[in-house]
Amino acid sequence: MYKWLDERLDLTGLYQKVLRKAFPVHHSFFLGEITLFAFIVLVLTGIFLTLNFEPSIREVRLPDGRTVPAAYASVLYIDSLPFGAVIRSLHHWSAHVMIAAAFLHMLRILLSGAYKKPRELNYLVGLALLGLAVVTAFTGYALPYDNYAVTATRIGYGIAASIPWVGSTLAQVMFGGEFPGSEKAIPRLYSLHVLWLPLLLMALIGMHMAIMMKQKHTQPRYAERVAPGRILGVPMYPQQLVMMGILFALYVGIMTLIAGAFLA
Ligand code: HEM
Repeated sequence: MYKWLDERLDLTGLYQKVLRKAFPVHHSFFLGEITLFAFIVLVLTGIFLTLNFEPSIREVRLPDGRTVPAAYASVLYIDSLPFGAVIRSLHHWSAHVMIAAAFLHMLRILLSGAYKKPRELNYLVGLALLGLAVVTAFTGYALPYDNYAVTATRIGYGIAASIPWVGSTLAQVMFGGEFPGSEKAIPRLYSLHVLWLPLLLMALIGMHMAIMMKQKHTQPRYAERVAPGRILGVPMYPQQLVMMGILFALYVGIMTLIAGAFLA
C-alpha cells in the first residue's frame, strides 16, 4: 500500500522535505503550539455548541414560567445536557487561553528577535491572527444574550461605531443595526463567529505554518552556543509529533478540570 502511494505521491520525498524538519527543543517554542491546541479545542467544542444553540432573540417561555430570549434559553438547554456545561465552559476558557498564549508567543518572538528578516511577513500574519482571535472571541461574547453578554457587547458596539470614517459601516456589518435592539444582531454575530472568522483564522493559521515550514525556525540561544551555524532540534516526525500529542492530551485534561471547576 505504502509503495503504491509512494510511487504516485512521492511520500518519501514529502517525509524528507516536511516531516524531517528540525524542531527546536525549548519550552518557549511550545507557546505557538498551545495557541494552536486552544484553537483546535475551540473548533471541536464549538461544533457541539452550534448543534444546540439558537441564534435568535425571539421571546420563549421557560418551564418555570419566565420569558427569556431564545438564545439564552438554548444556552440553558446546553447546560442541562450531559457534560454540556463543561463543554461550554471548555469553549469559554480555551478562548481566554488562546489569546493569552498568542500574546505570550508574540513576546517570545519579540524578545528572541524572531521577527527580524526574513520573518517579517510571518510576524505580520501573526499580528493579524492575534487581532482576529480577539474579534472572534468578542463576537462570541454576545451570543448567550444574558445581562453580562449584552453589557459587554454594547461597549464593543460603541467602540466599533465610534471609529472615525468606517465606524458606522463596521457596526452595521457586524451588528446588522443598533445593539442591543436589532433583531439581526445575534444572527449576524453568530454567522461571523461560527463561519467567517473561523474560516479566516484557519486560512491564516495555514499560511503562518506554511511560511514557518518554508523559512524554518529560528534557533534558541543555547543551540547557537552548542552547535554554532547548525540547525539543532528533533525531527518533526516522529519525535516532535509525539511530544505534540502528549502536550495536546495534557492541554485537554488540565483545561477540562479547570472548565469543570470554574463553570462559565
Ligand atoms: C492564532 C495565533 C497564532 C498561532 C496559532 C501561532 C502558531 C505558531 C506556531 C505553532 C509556530 C511554531 C512554533 C513556535 O515557534 O512557537 C509559530 C511560529 C511563529 N509565529 Fe506564530 N502563532 C500565532 C500568533 C502569532 C503572533 C501574534 C505573532 C507575532 C506577532 C506570531 C509570529 C510568529 C513567528 C515570527 C514565528 C516563527 C518563529 C521562529 O522562527 O522562531 N505568531 N506560530
